[in-house]
Amino acid sequence: MSIIKGFHHLTACVSGAQEDVDFYVKLLGQTLVKKTVLLDGEEPVYHLYYGNARGDAGTLVTSFPFKQKGVKGRRGSGQIKVINYSVPRDSLEFWRERFSAKGVAFDKDVVERFDERRQRFQHPCGIEFDLVESDRDARPPCSASDIPEQFAIRGVHSITLSLREVAESIIFMQEALDFRYAGQSGPYHRFETADGAPGTVVEFIHEPDRLQGSSIYGEGTIHHVAFAVDNVEQQMLIKDKLMSMGHIDTSESVNRNYFRSMYFKMPGGVMFEAATTDIGFAIDEAPGHFGSEFQLPPWLRERKNELLGRLEPIAV
Ligand SMILES: [Fe+2]
Repeated sequence: MSIIKGFHHLTACVSGAQEDVDFYVKLLGQTLVKKTVLLDGEEPVYHLYYGNARGDAGTLVTSFPFKQKGVKGRRGSGQIKVINYSVPRDSLEFWRERFSAKGVAFDKDVVERFDERRQRFQHPCGIEFDLVESDRDARPPCSASDIPEQFAIRGVHSITLSLREVAESIIFMQEALDFRYAGQSGPYHRFETADGAPGTVVEFIHEPDRLQGSSIYGEGTIHHVAFAVDNVEQQMLIKDKLMSMGHIDTSESVNRNYFRSMYFKMPGGVMFEAATTDIGFAIDEAPGHFGSEFQLPPWLRERKNELLGRLEPIAV
């Protein structure tokens, strides 16, 4: 059994905080699972977690609204290019009408790849998303009053990495991370782990002529992907394996309050993370009340009012 169970979360640097909440909650029907701050650096930046109401790993996409810092990222290769959400079969028409009615930028044509229909649309900060239809997703729908369950998002389907070179990365996915090579379609390469259902799929797009994107925090770019592992022991097994293969660009296990993280760079330059599922979001809010209050880790709680006062107010 593979150590990686699928996705834990994806993290993007977006623009404004309120437009981000409106995009995930009001447009896509996600729950704001946690409202906290970025745990690196002195100046506070929100860290907003969205997913299903239970905050399950594999449904989570998180945002750093970077507009207040005025630091813009550059999209390019060596980055995650597209966040792909999973929806049931025959739901793209509902979403196309919804995007149209709400003035969301979306592509004219539905495309098909690896036998799955997909619809491209855009976050207000320019980050690209696909809705991908699958009848293999057994996860509960992300419920919202104006989105019928038969069309609702089930969680993250996959990520699409833009890479200038793919040879080393293809080997890395299989030998270092135990993904299976699941096929090629034009410039796309697909990998799957566990049962290969939505939530366990990684895709490369080979773009040899695309300039390298930025990799530090900057508005308009997807910063990293976190894969789910059970606990720190399992996380360290991945670290040991990476180190033994010469991939020494790995971090220690870092305390992220709701999980522990170990970061590493894959050969194509994209930041990967292994995040543990053994802690979770119920440590400071009861299930059913996730995201209702601004939360801080114990070592920052004394500064709650000061930090909140320096952030853009948001309403859900
Ligand atoms: Fe992360």
